[in-house]
Amino acid sequence: MAHKVTLIPGDGIGPEVTQAVVRILEATGVKWEWERYAAGAEAFEIFGEYIPGELYESIERNKVALKGPVTTPVGGGFKSINVTLRKKFDLYANFRPIKNLPGLETRYPGVDLIIVRENTEGEYVGLEHEVVPGVVESLKVITEKGSTRIAQFAFDYARKHGRKKIHSIHKANIMKLSDGLFLKCARKVAEGFPDVQYAEHIIDNTCMQLVMNPYQYDTLLLENLYGDIVSDLCAAFVGGLGLVPGANIGVDCAIFEAVHGSAPDIAGKDIANPTALLQSAVLMLHHLDETAAAEKVQKALETVYAERKTLTRDVGGHAGTSQFADAVLAAM
Ligand code: NAI
Repeated sequence: MAHKVTLIPGDGIGPEVTQAVVRILEATGVKWEWERYAAGAEAFEIFGEYIPGELYESIERNKVALKGPVTTPVGGGFKSINVTLRKKFDLYANFRPIKNLPGLETRYPGVDLIIVRENTEGEYVGLEHEVVPGVVESLKVITEKGSTRIAQFAFDYARKHGRKKIHSIHKANIMKLSDGLFLKCARKVAEGFPDVQYAEHIIDNTCMQLVMNPYQYDTLLLENLYGDIVSDLCAAFVGGLGLVPGANIGVDCAIFEAVHGSAPDIAGKDIANPTALLQSAVLMLHHLDETAAAEKVQKALETVYAERKTLTRDVGGHAGTSQFADAVLAAM
């Protein structure tokens, strides 16, 4: 039976990397039925809605989506499509593995980090208002429920996959109540996992520690904003944003997307690296219990990196997006 998956190509480099990844997925032997939808500015032009009702219904039906990046206007305009989808489907866990690929030399070889980012609360609740001209307030919302379930997700993952240590990253020295609650919940969950070490680091120190010695960390548990920022920092360990995958996971649904954005600076040139979305698709294959196909794609991807003949420009090669996809297909 075919897997029905909602496909959101997105904008900027989204359609290019999505096309490359879909070609590779189609060649795995797994059967797919894609339900393709526009979102963001493109959807507004066609449907008069930033997220068409049919897109919501499609995700509700299929429970799984593969998504390219969608541009969010800065300082005004419509609300982030990404944040809206995560909230709508209560995709509370943002899971981002950071791991070097063979053959790709970076300043930090052998990094193997897991980022678990709370995905529905914090500063991303979008509650901002102008109190009086010149004064605005932006609310950060941290709840016991939200903090407990993300900590539970991190510890469950650690136990299941043999991860040794979880660091909660916080600023509870300043945000005593909000980050304090986040820590309190994490500590409580940690008590049920004596087999996983638990520690806490302050966010600013963490950034320095990561750059000095990322190997001291195993799994990072972070609130929404800290997780967003630290993800991009950690992407640099393994070669940049073109590489790091992500999964937004809820109780019922999951949306798989790269950490990177729509990269308008390189859009439409067939030079974007599709690896991040491809590795997100590998996470999706595991989620769908298509383990053999997941391993096949990952192995082909690693072969292409190890050979170093057909890499994209962001990682020192000369290949285009589609040429890179051809190489992965040939390796498969
Ligand atoms: P970005 O991630 O789009 O780009 C940052 C830098 O990384 C750029 O130099 C870009 O060329 C490079 N880069 C990113 N992905 C790459 C790839 N696959 N291959 C090669 N190079 C790549 O971040 P930026 O510029 O801050 O954001 C652009 C837009 O994307 C914004 O509107 C932002 O809101 C949106 N965005 C969307 C996300 C999503 O849909 N999940 C996530 C992050 C940002």
